[in-house]
Parts: sequence; structure tokens; C-alpha cells
Amino acid sequence: MQDAQPKTMYLKDYRVPDYLVDSTDLHFELEPKATLVKSRLEIRRNPEAGQGLPPLLLNGIDLELLSIAIDGSILSSISYQETPEGLSVSIDKPEFILEIHNRINPEDNTSLEGLYLSNDMYCTQCEAEGFRKITFYPDRPDVMSKFTTTIMAPADYPVLLSNGNEVDRGYCDDGRHFVTWEDPFAKPAYLFALVAGDLEHVDDSFTTVSGREVKLQIFTEDKNIGKCDHAMQSLKKAMRWDEEVYGREYDLDIFMVVAVDHFNMGAMENKGLNIFNSACVLASPETATDSAFQRIESIIGHEYFHNWSGNRVTCRDWFQLSLKEGFTVFRDAEFSADLNSRAVKRIEDVSLLRTSQFSEDAGPMAHPIRPDSYMEISNFYTLTVYEKGAEVVRMIHTILGSEGFRKGSDLYFERHDGCAVTCEDFIAAMEDANQVDLSQFRRWYSQAGTPELNVTDHYDGSLDVYQLKVRQFCPATPEQDEKLPFHIPLKVGLLGSNGADMALDEAGATQCVLEVTEREQTFEFKGIKEQPLLSLLRGFSAPVKVRHNYSREQLLFLMSNDSDTFNRWDASQRLAFTALDQLQDAYRQGRNLQLPPEMIAAYRDILIDRELDPALAAEILQLPSEQLIAEESESIDADAIFTARHFARETLANALVPELKERYIELSTEKSYSPNAKDISERRLKNVCLEYLCITKSTEALGFAQRQFEAASNMTDKAAALSALINYADDQQADQAIKQFYELWREDTQVIELWLALQSSSSTRGTLENIKALMQHSAFEMKNPNKVRAVIGGFANRNFSQFHKSDGSGFEFVAEQVITLDKLNPQIAARLVIPITRWKKYAGKLAEKMKAALLRVADSGELSKDVFEVVSKGLKN
Ligand code: TRP
Ligand code: ZN
Repeated sequence: MQDAQPKTMYLKDYRVPDYLVDSTDLHFELEPKATLVKSRLEIRRNPEAGQGLPPLLLNGIDLELLSIAIDGSILSSISYQETPEGLSVSIDKPEFILEIHNRINPEDNTSLEGLYLSNDMYCTQCEAEGFRKITFYPDRPDVMSKFTTTIMAPADYPVLLSNGNEVDRGYCDDGRHFVTWEDPFAKPAYLFALVAGDLEHVDDSFTTVSGREVKLQIFTEDKNIGKCDHAMQSLKKAMRWDEEVYGREYDLDIFMVVAVDHFNMGAMENKGLNIFNSACVLASPETATDSAFQRIESIIGHEYFHNWSGNRVTCRDWFQLSLKEGFTVFRDAEFSADLNSRAVKRIEDVSLLRTSQFSEDAGPMAHPIRPDSYMEISNFYTLTVYEKGAEVVRMIHTILGSEGFRKGSDLYFERHDGCAVTCEDFIAAMEDANQVDLSQFRRWYSQAGTPELNVTDHYDGSLDVYQLKVRQFCPATPEQDEKLPFHIPLKVGLLGSNGADMALDEAGATQCVLEVTEREQTFEFKGIKEQPLLSLLRGFSAPVKVRHNYSREQLLFLMSNDSDTFNRWDASQRLAFTALDQLQDAYRQGRNLQLPPEMIAAYRDILIDRELDPALAAEILQLPSEQLIAEESESIDADAIFTARHFARETLANALVPELKERYIELSTEKSYSPNAKDISERRLKNVCLEYLCITKSTEALGFAQRQFEAASNMTDKAAALSALINYADDQQADQAIKQFYELWREDTQVIELWLALQSSSSTRGTLENIKALMQHSAFEMKNPNKVRAVIGGFANRNFSQFHKSDGSGFEFVAEQVITLDKLNPQIAARLVIPITRWKKYAGKLAEKMKAALLRVADSGELSKDVFEVVSKGLKN
């Protein structure tokens, strides 16, 4: 696979840094192929690191060293050594000035880490370890320094940005100009940012609670300047929300956001200068869907909230990543829930967690939210660290209540402001502020895997006592065979036969949080006058799987009566899973497929219920995705899953045509676009109805789609219609729509990404042949992660039937693309290979074929650390 195995880093090996950097003065002379970087560092021996003067270790990758000097004298080559990591410099005094000159090549940097070019704009990405691609530096988050940055560039790069406040600008004799920025807050190098280009900007301002005025700016290429408004409004809402909910005020005079087209992730919280993937910041009603509007609001919030949870208080080392990410995802989720529909937001987040995080937790890369080891930290920006990390913070919130949680977060920010700390410090602040003991709860940070709860109940009518017996179990994960019991907050309610919540105590509480801490535990409710119906894990109070033997009647009852909206939806999921399982069995046994009539009736009731939130109806009607059904399967039978789900949807569609049509027409009102929760919710149900109608392939339904495609004035409706045509119209009608849409939007990068994704994820049009053709299209670009995610990612992650073709061609194709991509962008290649590492979960031939594809990547020659780690873990027994 590779000669030298990449080194594994361990949390237990953490040592404080030997040297501290009090100030960092950077000077850039920008040139596409030869940018000159000069750094001047005030360095001092760390008093906490022990005696003596060990060599100073600097990280550096792909750097051309020009000179290195200490206190003004140039070092000869005997005073420093090149190491695999960078440089090791001999030191003979405890305090000194280190000056380094080096050259880098932004134009050829396709990894999108360090300094690179995106459409002729210079930009940086330094988290986690990208700063070492800019200059030699102790690139670790516990080295915090005050940065001053001077950027010098030709006049055709008029905008020159970095962190903090602008303190100087001017012209050079040769026609170039420069700007100097100073960031008053000490920060780790991963929060450094630089941007240079010919950019336009939209300006606004925000007055903080204490009355300081902050200038807000969003920078984009000229053509996108009309797409900044939603992000700006979202930013102001986020700033207000963080003041109101967490008491956190912004701390600089200016806050800048820049949109770039080439970006590995969603966005980056660089101090005072957030850099965003264009897809996560630019929107207008004509070009962006409702989900894009919501994504932008939450990511703008997320990056802004990092200013406190991440920047002011940062991570000691990368094992602590969830300290900032889990907490910040929890913060952005609450922000979105407060601004929109709380229940719908919760359903979306839990669906993502169950579909993608649960499968990560059950796969070869499973790790605790605070990993014990890694080869390449970029591989640990995972759903586990982010989403499960957020669930862990949410559980603390549930256990302490919102006031207790706020006391804890206040203490955390106050204690650790300006410091690089650990997850342990976060929990300790929560404990100390509330005088609680979270010792057992800490296991959520160190144990991987999704716990399973088995709940049985017993009602004793003679004593009016209702008993719950809860058993917990967590499956083994790599390197962790045995798990200790978790501390699980299990929120429950009891429904009476009238459908109302029963009182659980004298005070009349209608729900409670059971603290599950043992492997097996019994809970008792007294004074229960009739056999109750159990509503379990309300609001998804813990990231676990709950098993309980519900009958179909009970689930139907919960679906229409539970006071917890999330659980109404969850009951529908349980119902659907049972039906889909039975369909899979029937398919495997060659029996006739049949959907229970009660299920059709229940779905009809949902569809005609005008009281129900339309978004909730839409969520229920959609049925669990193939990917979620796969995750829930003991052994994945791709064919059976696809057939069962398709059959269920076709049956529902055919049975409900009149109701679908009525609802579709009723919701098809012409009104001007607004991305508010109510309108989004109505558009969502309308478009789910349209899709169901089109599943029947009737001329009338496809006529609705065609008309909506032509008439829609917002992208949500237009894209939904296009999607329906792509998936259900005949080739001619579909081709024509695809072409027409392209001609209309060919100049708009964000819309074209959507256009690519709709095709690649289509079970009918997204054949391997068509995917390959899309990759030849001028709209595709292998060096652009968004395009790769849209086409190749769409195929591997969202096109279940084509990707899982029984001849293994889908797996082979993904393997080939991973090999090509690894040479360009290892981070993206390592993400793309994940779908073919899950071979063990598959039944029979498919598992063999998938493993063969993975082996092909392994044997393809030299691999990046990123891909090596994922592939080698994927091949382990
Ligand atoms: N910290 C970023 C966030 O808000 C994550 C991130 C952005 C990132 N770009 C990256 C992580 C590149 C690794 C590599 O979640
Ligand atoms: Zn983040």
C-alpha cells in the first residue's frame, strides 16, 4: 500500500509546547507561482515545559526555505535540521526573535489547504494544519500569538484582507500596494486568514448590547453581489441571539465574510474574517432553494458563534475538536430552532444523525467524540465529532435545564477566556456551576458506538403502578470491545386512552427525564389509573436506539396523539420501518408485495389533516431514505431495500391520487417568495405531493410538473419540478427540461451545482454512463470540491440503486475517482472513499465486490495520509 506508514498521534502523548510565540508578524508578497512569505516571531521558552533549551520544532510542508535568522543573524545549516515535519532549530537562549523567509506556490496548490487561488482570488484555509503550508511555525492550537499581517499585491488585487483591524495601507514604488492588519486577540495559527482579490462588498452594521458599533462586510466576486442579503440578515440575527441567549458580545470593530468557490468544507471561523464556501453564503430567491436559505442561516450562525466557542476559548489539541464543534453545532441548532420550526429542525437533525452518524459509529472509522488517536486529523471532522458531539452537549443541557446550562457556559467562558482548553474543562465548568457530578456522563467522550436501550413495561392495575425496565447495551467498536454503561437522560411521557398526557406526579408534570445509569434499571410511576401508552425518548433526548415492542395500533395512536411532535414523527418512522421490513422479506421470499391497508389509511389521514404542520406531514409522507433503511439493517440487501421502498411509495402514490392532487392544487398559490418557516413548510408539502403524483407517471401529473417547471419564480419550486421530470418523465421530456434549465442558468455556479446533483442522484437518470458524461461536461471541474460532491458524491451517497449495482461497477467507479482525486485533494478523496469502506455490512456478492474496489485503492501506489488512514481502517478485520 505504501512504504512508510503515516505516524499515529495519541491523546495520551500530549505535552505542553516547549516554546511560546508572543507575537507573529507576517509579510506576504503575493505572486501566483512564487509568493514570498516573511515571518518575524517573538519566541520564549515555555516556563511550564521544564528545564533546558530543547530544539525548537517548526512544522512546514511544501515550503521553499530562503533564510532563517535568530536575533538578526542568519543561521548556517548546522544550526537547524530538516525533519519529516518541518524544521528542528538549535536554541541557546530562552528568548529570541526568529525570522524566516520562504516561498510558496498558491497557483499549484490544489489541496485547498494553506494559501491557494480560487478563480483568481487568493485565500487561505488553515484549520486544522494548513498554516504549515504557508510558513514554518509551531502549528498547534495551544500556541497562541498576536498576529500582525502585511499583504503586498499588484493593483489588480484591490482588496487585501486579514484578521483584526486595518492599521495601515499604502503604495509601493513598483505600482503594488499593501495593507496591514492587526489582530489584538492572541490566537492559534489555525485561525489565521488572508484574502486578496478583485472583490465587491456589501456593508451593514450592528450595534452591540453595550452600544459598540460593528462594521459588517460580505465580500464576493462582482457577479454575486446580489446574493448577499440573506447572509447579512442572518448574521445580524446571530449576533443578537448570542447576546440574548448566551450573553456573548462581539469583540472587534469589524466582522468580514468572504465567499469562495473552491472550498473543502462549509465555512471557516477565522478571527474577524470568516471564509465561506460560496454554496453556504450566497442566495437569492430565484437561484437558491429553501434548504439553501436555511443552510446559510445556520452556517452563518455556526461560524459567528465560534467567535466565543472556538476562538476566545479554543482547543488545547485536536483531540478536543468536539469541544468547539459539538458545542457550536448545538448552539447553531438552537439558533435555527428559535428562528424557525423547532420540531422540524429536530427531525432534520435526528434524521441526519441516524442516517450518517449511526453508520459511522457502526463502521470501521468509529471513534468517540473525543478520539484517542488519529493519523490525519482532517479525517476526524466527522458527524461523530460534530453532530453526536452536539447531542452530548444537548444531553448536558437536558440534565441541567436551560438556566443551569447557562450558568455553566458563563463559568466556562469566564474561566477560560483567552485559553486553549479541553473537553474536561467544559464538563468541569458545567459541574462546578451546578454542583452536580458528571463523572459517569464523561463516558460519552471516551466510548464510541451507538448505545441501544431495550425498554419493557408492566402495568399493575390493582396497585396503580406502572413499571419500566430499561436495559442498555453498546456494541463493540474498533479498539473498544467492552463498554461501561452510559449516563442517559431518557425523556418520557405517558398517554392515557383519551390521548392526553397523564400526570406523572402530584405536581402534575406530564413528562420527566429518567436518568438511566445502570446496565439494567427499573423505574416506577405511582398513581397511574389506567394502562398507559409509553412515549419514549421525547425530543430524542439522547443519541441512542430505543427498542420497545409497540403494536401497529399503538404506533398509529402515538402518531395522532403524542403531545411531543418529534415523537409523532418518530412513531410514523417505526411504522414505516415495520412495513418496509415486511416488504423486504416478501421480496426475498418471492411473495407478492403488499402494503398494509392501515398504513395507507394512516398516510391518507396525514395528507388530509389541515391542522398538522405541513412540514411535518411532508416529513412523514416521504418515508425513511434507502440509506437510513440500510443503516437499520443487520445485513444490507441493497436490491430488497430499493424494491421495498419503491413499492411502498408507488402504492401510496396510486392509492392517494385524489388527496395528493387536492393538496397540491390547494398549496400551489402564487405568492412572493419568503424563506419563512410557514412558507417553507407549505412549499415542502406541495413538492412532496408533486413528487408522489409523478411517481404514478400519469400525463396529468407530469403536466403539473412541466407547468411548475416553466412558471416557478423561485428555485425551490423550479428545482422540485425539474427533479420530478428527471426522475419520472420519459427521456424526451426529461432531457428537454435538463437542457432548458442548463441554458437558463449556465452562468450561475450555485444553480449548476444543484443541476448536477439532481442528475447524479437520480435512480433513473444517474446511471454510470450518465455520470461519466456529466464529468465530461464543461460544468464539471475535478478541482472544485462542490462539483465533485455534486456529481461523484451524489452518485455514491444519494443514488442507492445505481451505486449498488450488482455487477460492482458503481464501487469500481468510485475507487477510480478516489485514486485520481487523491493526487489533487487528499481531504476530498478521503471523504469520497468512505462509502466503499462499509463492505462488511453488506450481504453476499456485494460485500466482495465492494472490498475488491477498496483493495484496488489500497494497491494503487502511494496514497496520501488521509486516504491511507480511511482505507487501511476499512480493510482491517
Ligand atoms: N471549523 C470549521 C467549521 O466551522 C471546519 C472547517 C472548515 C475545516 N474548513 C476546514 C476543517 C478544512 C478541516 C479542513 O466547522
Ligand atoms: Zn465549526
